[in-house]
Amino acid sequence: MKHASATTRTTDASTATYRSATRPPVRFRPTPSITAHAPSNPVTVVARDGRVLELRAILPGDAPALRRAFDRMTPDQIRARFFYRMNELSEELADRLCHVDQTTTAAFVVTDPGNDVPGGEIRGEARMHVDPVTQTAEFALAVDPGFVEQGIGSTLLRRLLDECRRRGLLELWGDVLVDNHAMLDLARHLDPRNTVEHGTEPGLNRVRLAV
Ligand SMILES: CC(C)(COP(=O)(O)OP(=O)(O)OC[C@H]1O[C@@H](n2cnc3c(N)ncnc32)[C@H](O)[C@@H]1OP(=O)(O)O)[C@@H](O)C(=O)NCCC(=O)NCCS
Repeated sequence: MKHASATTRTTDASTATYRSATRPPVRFRPTPSITAHAPSNPVTVVARDGRVLELRAILPGDAPALRRAFDRMTPDQIRARFFYRMNELSEELADRLCHVDQTTTAAFVVTDPGNDVPGGEIRGEARMHVDPVTQTAEFALAVDPGFVEQGIGSTLLRRLLDECRRRGLLELWGDVLVDNHAMLDLARHLDPRNTVEHGTEPGLNRVRLAV
């Protein structure tokens, strides 16, 4: 006599379901990306010298502009942003940076629409990566050397802080080279509650921005 099987399969392969007498029923789990998605319309940003720019979420089509923005960075800026020397931003990495998983990441660009480039040239880029366990996010950003000290870095960090508040996060933090005075001053300048402390590795400071 055949033993009764604990599992059954439907015969129609196109609607194949797997049922087991020993497993609990599968529960519906909502897709987190729906709630984590950042609704973001472009907003106008006026640089200190009057140049009119736009702040918006990064888009998949931004990869070529992001690579050009990287090419304009100085070696010191590249070291400050990535912590090591890089000669170019590969197509693959640029693509990855522009395809943002909204559940774990938020990324924004300030663009300069004053030329014929579709989407505009990228003059600043900032992103944060969320740790759902600690409910904090790590930031990184860079501003085009021709556009520094125009308030763009502060604007991008404020945008990330808005995003932290929207997601109910407790802190926005980043590791910053100890000789990166521009970033350390920017953090202190942004909010007196922000702190700078020794980082987890020599040569790094940990900057904590109050949400
Ligand atoms: C750090 C960085 C993002 C600052 O961007 P920015 O657009 O120039 O910053 P802001 O114009 O908003 O500056 C705001 C404040 O930061 C401080 N600051 C900015 N640049 C500074 C500099 N070169 N030296 C000292 N303080 C500076 C000032 O307090 C400034 O306020 P002020 O303009 O009223 O004096 C930019 O220099 C950069 O891209 N650096 C390379 C990448 C990097 O360091 N990223 C951070 C680590 S991930």
